Amino acid sequence: MEQRTKLFLFTFLFLFANQSAILSIAVESKITYINVMSLGAKPDGKTDSTAALTSAWTAACNSSKPASIYVPKGRFLVNQQAELSGPCRNKVITMRIDGSIIAPSDYNVLGSTMFWIEFKSVDGLSIRGGFLDGKGTGLWACKAASGKSCPTGVSTLGFTNSNNIKIYGLTSLNSQLFHIVFNGCTNVKVQGVKVTAAGNSPNTDGIHLQFSTGVKILNSKISTGDDCISIGPGTSNLSIEDVICGPGHGISIGSLGRDFEEEGVQNVTVKRVTFINTQNGVRIKSWGRPSKGFVNHVVFQHATMINVQNPIVIDQNYCPDHINCPGEVSGVQINDVLYQDIHGTSATEVAVKFDCSKKNPCKGITLEDVKLNYKNQQAKSQCANAGGNSLGLIEPSSCL
Ligand SMILES: *[C@@H]1O[C@H](CO)[C@@H](O)[C@H](O)[C@H]1NC(C)=O
Ligand SMILES: *[C@@H]1O[C@H](CO)[C@@H](O)[C@H](O)[C@H]1NC(C)=O
Ligand SMILES: *[C@@H]1O[C@H](CO)[C@@H](O)[C@H](O)[C@H]1NC(C)=O
Repeated sequence: MEQRTKLFLFTFLFLFANQSAILSIAVESKITYINVMSLGAKPDGKTDSTAALTSAWTAACNSSKPASIYVPKGRFLVNQQAELSGPCRNKVITMRIDGSIIAPSDYNVLGSTMFWIEFKSVDGLSIRGGFLDGKGTGLWACKAASGKSCPTGVSTLGFTNSNNIKIYGLTSLNSQLFHIVFNGCTNVKVQGVKVTAAGNSPNTDGIHLQFSTGVKILNSKISTGDDCISIGPGTSNLSIEDVICGPGHGISIGSLGRDFEEEGVQNVTVKRVTFINTQNGVRIKSWGRPSKGFVNHVVFQHATMINVQNPIVIDQNYCPDHINCPGEVSGVQINDVLYQDIHGTSATEVAVKFDCSKKNPCKGITLEDVKLNYKNQQAKSQCANAGGNSLGLIEPSSCL
């Protein structure tokens, strides 16, 4: 821009700014800002900041204007369960976290409560940044030491019956149980999230969903001891893209069909996921029990498997210890599943396994451009009660 034009513009803006000073104050106060430290939170890792956090939530939720909660740098101990409930008076609540929120290191403090931090009946919430430290290692050790009685443990972050939720750049470390759970939610976006827990930590699923629709999980990295992402009954319109998973048990639809009256899973797309040293790649799993549940219209596309034990697997005979599985056959109907451009290495000889229900054989399974090796040798595929077709290059050769 020419110097003279610039000067003119600055002069113009200056005049304009002066005259609109009153206006700009009004603009600023259109948002309610709440710093948790102004409500007594301390970044010392020792002072219980639960009350400050819940008061900040109450103020934000009760604000008639959009509200922004700020957790500054530092370590904030949240020593109790924090239940952050709506419905709220506004639909634009932002929680920006620059610091860490730390759970009590004694796992008996939270015991077997469902969630450590739970949002309930909230509509319109964004969480940006932050570090949640679930302090799970003590509980995992308790569970690993046989004969000891340990609490079930608490999941780190839960969203229940909530809509329009966005989570950007959050890190969840060492959850006692599941890291992040969506139950009964609509329109959710999870982006740039990181989950980290030991590969042998029990039941530390990265993200678990159920009864939720319109969910996107993008550009995230999940390393944990159980499923990277587990997809429960009543999930629909789910899209998972650009995720790195491992260690962990992979991406799993299921376990489904535990109950007779159960909602199905529909419209799931999993794209560009890399699995590294995981137990499974893309899995569908159902109990060998009677059920009205189903799986319909699933796409697994552009996946890379690196040393994965079961890269492609459908297991409809899940029944630990063969207890309460009359007939040992699954009622869950699996229909219309596409595996497209799945390549890499299997850690076991059987790289593709479709073990479907005798009563409800899998229908409409399509394999397209699948290339999986086992230690640079020919891998195998195994089918039981599975119907469908294959297109393009398929290695190991299809058993459909
Ligand atoms: C909510 O805000 C209203 C006024 O805007 C106030 O009267 C009421 O006490 C507040 N409730 C809580 C729980 O803070
Ligand atoms: C899922 O998406 C489809 C197509 O985009 C839409 O028609 C359907 O209503 C959505 N389902 C739910 C439960 O929102
Ligand atoms: C699944 O997708 C189809 C096609 O887009 C849509 O018609 C259907 O409503 C979706 N199902 C659900 C439960 O959203």
